[in-house]
Amino acid sequence: MSDPIVIAVDGPGGAGKGELTRRLAEALDFDLLDSGAIYRVLAYAVRKAGLALFDEDSVVQEAKLLNLSFECLDDGVHVLLGGEDVSSQIRTEEAGANASKVAAYPSVRQALLQRQREFLKEPGLVADGRDMGTVVFPKAQVKIFLDASAEVRAKRRCLQLESKGKTADFDTILKEIQERDDRDRNRPVAPLKAADDALVIDSSDMDIETVYKTALDYVKQKTGLKVE
Ligand code: C5P
Repeated sequence: MSDPIVIAVDGPGGAGKGELTRRLAEALDFDLLDSGAIYRVLAYAVRKAGLALFDEDSVVQEAKLLNLSFECLDDGVHVLLGGEDVSSQIRTEEAGANASKVAAYPSVRQALLQRQREFLKEPGLVADGRDMGTVVFPKAQVKIFLDASAEVRAKRRCLQLESKGKTADFDTILKEIQERDDRDRNRPVAPLKAADDALVIDSSDMDIETVYKTALDYVKQKTGLKVE
């Protein structure tokens, strides 16, 4: 039997990876790994345990013990920490910033590496993150790097928050996005960057339908899979 197929989708926050990977996984009937959720839950667990995000030793201990699971419900994938649904708590801007702080520790990334690889099973996996194609699944059959300018991503995030009835200040969100990008791109281990063999899609001037079609065509071309 051939190996399960990995479709690695990397890129900065807000480029549209979440929706793209959900749609690809659904169309291909593959499992989905939202690796960002793991770092978000870890940061949440560290804070909940009263530990400091800057204390690498404590963070790595939490990473090793992290009791995390994903549950598929009608309204999407929920994230559980020790059985408690923490999906909404981990989706705030602060949770994203905290995730990028714990994700910068090499020891933490090492502690979570195998756990991420265990998500791979037949027929395949769509993996969403920053280092899926470079570190976690370097032999992925398909690698896509989904990018968009920081301004476009900030605008999309504002619209998303407003659609949920929340207030959003463009300049504050843009600053947060730029700070997180900076931390993710400049960390010494597994920095955010496109794999040499990735297809780079800049979604700044594309709608999600065009992004999806471009990605799906590429998946078909690379894997020979027949998908509608
Ligand atoms: O994708 P998401 O916004 O949920 O990721 C939150 C943070 O987790 C990112 O800003 C990044 O610092 C970290 N992350 C990572 N490696 C991944 C996925 C996420 O370092 N594979």
